Amino acid sequence: MLNRAKIAIIGGGNVGASCALWAASKELGDIVVVDIPQAEGLVKGKMLDLAQASPVERFDSTITGTTDYADIAGADVVVITAGLPRKPGMSRDDLIKTNVEIVRSVSQNVKQHAPGSIVIVVSNPLDAMVYTAWKATGFPTDRIVGQAGCLDMARFKTFIAMETGFSVEDINALLLGGHGDDMVPLPRFTSIAGIPVTQFITEARLDEIVERAKKGGGEIVGLMGTSAYYAPAAGVIQMVEAIVKDKKRILPCAGYCDGEFGIKGLFVGVPCLLGGSGVEQIIKIDLTADEQKLMDASAAHVAELVEVVKGLYPDLA
Ligand code: NAI
Ligand code: 2OP
Repeated sequence: MLNRAKIAIIGGGNVGASCALWAASKELGDIVVVDIPQAEGLVKGKMLDLAQASPVERFDSTITGTTDYADIAGADVVVITAGLPRKPGMSRDDLIKTNVEIVRSVSQNVKQHAPGSIVIVVSNPLDAMVYTAWKATGFPTDRIVGQAGCLDMARFKTFIAMETGFSVEDINALLLGGHGDDMVPLPRFTSIAGIPVTQFITEARLDEIVERAKKGGGEIVGLMGTSAYYAPAAGVIQMVEAIVKDKKRILPCAGYCDGEFGIKGLFVGVPCLLGGSGVEQIIKIDLTADEQKLMDASAAHVAELVEVVKGLYPDLA
């Protein structure tokens, strides 16, 4: 018998619930969303509400809100969104103490109840939380990956579309590095329908667009007092789709680097080949000296955060 894919989402807050919505509307599989006992009514209610949209939006999917990790048994993909989002004035790094404790305990549950799953981490600070999930699950590195680059790239593409008036569908781009203001955009890989973007936007203006994309998360926190969720969830579901449909997409994700781009032992944003086995390959590209310098700085920042994680929980060393 053929089964639908099973997608578990841990944390049914803004990002988690939006992930469930996109996954359901794209009919990617059955969905289970887990939250803490204090949020039981909310997560059960949200998922019942979403299930009741299915006859209108025409998707067949079993949708469950729960506080019981036993319900994630057999999940093919687990998305970890549990944790605090930032408030105005906070950086993603300010969340580390609270979120490492949450992601560590969530990951231990994932290890116990969905030991064969592919894990996509979303909680911030992203790159350090992917490391935390890796250590706490003990899963092989091809089954642990973080979402940030799909969001950062989507922001960059959106701003290019706004600037030029061209369809977002025709814009191609690539970003590397950690999820933060030190991410590494690569304008030389940015094109519109295959035509270099510099034919349409001056380099000076492109630099401004890059800066806006880098600070895109903060812009939204400033506007609404909490962090973004529609575009982050869309980025997550782009990755889930690549996995459950074995699409072999090349997407910028926080993948494990074992020497690639001069980075060893860290999860950092790099082009990842995503398919049914998870991260099937890290795609290497030659960087210019300037790009490598930015990548080194971004990786050094991720390494600092990982040291904080190890200091807080020596079992994650
Ligand atoms: P939220 O506060 O709306 O939702 C978080 C949910 O996690 C809540 O429902 C909460 O009850 C739940 N939760 C807390 N501890 C838990 C535990 N131990 N087990 C299960 N559930 C638990 O926050 P939001 O906006 O959904 O953000 C979630 C995380 O995602 C934050 O850390 C945020 O910074 C991060 N984020 C990351 C992005 C990325 O691109 N990587 C983009 C946007 C947000
Ligand atoms: C964002 O970039 C907060 O990481 C989240 O919107």
